[in-house]
Amino acid sequence: MNKPLNPPANALEAFWMPFTPNRRFKADPRFVERAEGMFYYTPDGRPVLDATSGLWCVNAGHNRPRIVEAIQKQAAELDYATSFNMGHPKAFEFASRLANILPGDLDHVFFCNSGSEAADTALKIALAYHRARGKGGKTRLIGRERGYHGVGFGGISVGGIVANRKYFGGLLGGVDHLPHTHDLARNAFSRGQPEHGADLADNLERIVALHDASTIAAVIVEPLAGSTGVLVPPKGYLERLRAICDRHDILLIFDEVITGFGRLGASFASELFGVQPDLITLAKGLTNAAVPAGAVGASARIYDTLMDGADAPIELFHGYTYSAHPLACAAGLATLDTYRDEGLFERAGQLSPLWEEAAHSLKGARHVIDIRNLGLVAGIELESRPGAVGERGQEIFKAAFDSGLMIRVGGDIVALSPPLIIEETQLDQIFSQLRNLLSTID
Ligand SMILES: Cc1ncc(COP(=O)(O)O)c(C=O)c1O
Repeated sequence: MNKPLNPPANALEAFWMPFTPNRRFKADPRFVERAEGMFYYTPDGRPVLDATSGLWCVNAGHNRPRIVEAIQKQAAELDYATSFNMGHPKAFEFASRLANILPGDLDHVFFCNSGSEAADTALKIALAYHRARGKGGKTRLIGRERGYHGVGFGGISVGGIVANRKYFGGLLGGVDHLPHTHDLARNAFSRGQPEHGADLADNLERIVALHDASTIAAVIVEPLAGSTGVLVPPKGYLERLRAICDRHDILLIFDEVITGFGRLGASFASELFGVQPDLITLAKGLTNAAVPAGAVGASARIYDTLMDGADAPIELFHGYTYSAHPLACAAGLATLDTYRDEGLFERAGQLSPLWEEAAHSLKGARHVIDIRNLGLVAGIELESRPGAVGERGQEIFKAAFDSGLMIRVGGDIVALSPPLIIEETQLDQIFSQLRNLLSTID
């Protein structure tokens, strides 16, 4: 049960909480106060098993001493330095270390502070790249229905979640969307990549036919769509998108904010699927979420074109006060060390078959209409209550938290993505606890 916190009057009102039904939450709040490894702890000391890595971000588990110490040391040594026309060594070291592990020729890294900023940065780089090579007419950006690329105007424009778009005016012009790949009728209860839907990529040809390739700059997709309920790409789909982009001189951007850093049992989704993007966006697991950070990895071709073709000494008029913040770089370096030394990406790959088995053991559980999985991600789709989409999801979320399990719910889809340090017994516990909870929820 939630412990009353006895806050001073109005204490809960001041914080306007993000993506939260504020009035509901403040009438019935829930708190965590501390975390370690696989667990959060509530103010009254109750452990809560974290089956969502915070918000898909704490891939190495919580409060890892190596990362904590790196941040502490950095704060005492160099609290802040701008990266505008100035440098600090860890920024270059972190970029080099990242470039070493990024797929293919993604050899250059632009730092920002979040996944939203990474998405907007990648879109801007795509536009600037075409302009620098004398193709300034290529300005259209293509996203996908049910895509999530954060909450900046660029990200919501190419994104495909209606609630994130409809309140905010006209958004960016010149944007079009591919259809999403969710196909319950043909792909329900697929293990790993579903069989049906590669042909959905051909809609890009349709979009090209409508607008002409000479007006299209880039396509941005999440290789596996996380926030809209774990949509695993159909077999062959990403390969087909890549081929169509190549045919029409369109850049392919993979938003790997969720899928990066071992989540799918490989360093990056691009590596797992063997499909090379021109730009990649990163955040979350980049610093194990211990310090906010985001990044864009760019291909050598894009970087070189901008270096050689820019019409001003500053090749890209873009950047943030906190680009390559020293604390983020220190946390990021310690995070990469942790991933490497503990073999966490490989560990995620090794655990994937067990995870798949455990996830699909929920088939037949009450309300469950689909289960999908890849790497250490699972989506469990529940039947919605008639006229009350999301209500069942909210109830299961609350019941799970009260019973010591942190899950993520979007609408009526439960999304699970535990830290890559998860033990086998904890993995089983997540699904057996969920099965019990589903039997108690109406
Ligand atoms: C694929 C993807 N892109 C971008 C973002 C936005 O990241 P942030 O919340 O750090 O701005 C998210 C966040 O969940 C995401 O899943």
